[in-house]
Amino acid sequence: MRSIRWMFSAPIAALALALLGTFAGTVRAEEAPAGDAARGAQIGYTCYGCHGIADYRNAYPNYHVPKIGGQHAAYLSAALGEYRAGARPHPTMKGQASSLSEQDARDLAAYFATANPVKSGGKASGTPPAAAMTCIACHGTDGVGITADYPTLAGQQPDYIEQALAAYRKGTRQNAVMNGMAAQLKDEDIAALAEYFSQQTPALWVPRAPHGPTAK
Ligand code: HEC
Ligand code: HEC
Repeated sequence: MRSIRWMFSAPIAALALALLGTFAGTVRAEEAPAGDAARGAQIGYTCYGCHGIADYRNAYPNYHVPKIGGQHAAYLSAALGEYRAGARPHPTMKGQASSLSEQDARDLAAYFATANPVKSGGKASGTPPAAAMTCIACHGTDGVGITADYPTLAGQQPDYIEQALAAYRKGTRQNAVMNGMAAQLKDEDIAALAEYFSQQTPALWVPRAPHGPTAK
């Protein structure tokens, strides 16, 4: 308790704030320009046809469409870039992403990420399986990516997590870090990891169209 009070004594707090300000300034200068969530809302109506329906499934192979509500914005726009570039092979999403400019992708990401962003509550549900010990360094014990580059897995569809890990392992989805991580996993590890992360809260959510035929 005494050390906490010491930290917040006025002159030291002022110095800390000044340092923090400088640091935040440097970080901000390196970030991609922010997306415009209002514009994202206007161009995002096509996405609801799949991402706005809770039980919507991809046909072949059969798995749930990922939840994108509350995901980190930086990850969402990076993901769209990867479909466009072919690092992620899904034909429909490649088609969707190819019609978007980089600004469109940032605006859509800002829209789906910011309405109700998933923030770590600092508490995990259940016991992480042994295979999760390496994952939590980036994805958090409760599945909330510790920085915006690491996707949040909390509440994600378990069959989507499974197929993502299988695709990294096979190399059809390309990412230097995750290809290495997934290479170590057995099928039963993948099943246990998908179950564990899909049960974490606060959870990713299914965005509902504010207007139009897909609203429920
Ligand atoms: C026809 C259905 C369909 C439509 C329309 C669609 N998506 Fe997708 N989306 C999918 C499927 C299926 C996946 C999972 C693909 C995979 O396994 O890589 C996906 C994946 C994604 C991902 C990756 C999520 C993650 O966790 O990595 C993002 C981001 C995304 N979609 C955004 C969008 C946006 C933005 C739009 C509108 C411009 C859109 N999608 C329209 C079906 C669709
Ligand atoms: C060093 C950091 C790091 C570690 C450790 C790590 N990941 Fe990842 N993970 C990432 C990054 C970065 C991505 C995004 C890669 C991409 O764009 O495809 C990712 C993506 C994923 C995805 C895809 C999410 C989506 O929405 O499509 C899953 C699932 C995943 N990781 C699970 C795991 C599991 C399970 C482990 C442990 C075995 C693990 N990760 C370990 C950094 C990490």
